[in-house]
Amino acid sequence: MCPPRYFAVEYAINPWMDPNEPADAGRAMAQWTALRDIYRELGHTVEEIEPRRGLPDMVFAANSGTVIDGRVLGARFRAPQRAPEAEHYRRWFVEHGYRDVLMPARINEAEGDFAWTGRMLLAGTGFRTDPEAHAEAQEALGVPVLSLRLVDPRYYHLDTALFVLSEATDAAPAHIAYYPEAFSPGSQRVLARTFPDAVRATATDAACFGLNGVSDGRNVVLPLEATELAARLAACGYEPVRTDISELRKAGGGPKCCTLEIRK
Ligand code: ARG
Repeated sequence: MCPPRYFAVEYAINPWMDPNEPADAGRAMAQWTALRDIYRELGHTVEEIEPRRGLPDMVFAANSGTVIDGRVLGARFRAPQRAPEAEHYRRWFVEHGYRDVLMPARINEAEGDFAWTGRMLLAGTGFRTDPEAHAEAQEALGVPVLSLRLVDPRYYHLDTALFVLSEATDAAPAHIAYYPEAFSPGSQRVLARTFPDAVRATATDAACFGLNGVSDGRNVVLPLEATELAARLAACGYEPVRTDISELRKAGGGPKCCTLEIRK
């Protein structure tokens, strides 16, 4: 995670961002700190990267790397405003002992568009990550990739429209939640076929960034407003943990965007 010390809405690269509606830096820091502390209270280790002045979106760590079995595929951002973040994160991985760190040739916004199910990598395209980056990720990480097309500009990253609730095990397939309307008709059919037991979220769930959740297979961290989704997940046996991310949402981010998951 990256503390939002220099966080601000200074430019608009997604429909949620409006530089005329500035975010409150103090509140953003308090919300981010609460999110970090939730992970720690749930027993997870949180590592922090030093934020850089002039990179107001660096708080969205999920966009900066995809780590599976200790292999790291770095990022290449579409927006020039965010491009320098990739190198800061690459260096963090190298300095923290990761040996296999590969930087992509194609535009690749990492976990913003990649979701690991425990068996395969679900990969979004349409707004940010290049479709060619999907094949590149498959080759670099050695995992099967399933391409999905996003069609609604409000849900510009895969992680704004889908997340993994529990990874696949030998005993059970992966369980996911998603907002079908964010995907092209063909991708909706792919999702329905691949994940017949998925939780299908409503437009209201999606609009508060409810699909930008983070699950450890039991506890599911969600935005405060995602009450409907929280109730449905509780009915499936999960433990929803809701937290206020209203200031981060002004940049088009939520809990997952702030969280790069390291799978060693
Ligand atoms: N302002 C950032 C952008 O548009 C938000 C990124 C949110 N991150 C995410 N994983 N969806 O790039």
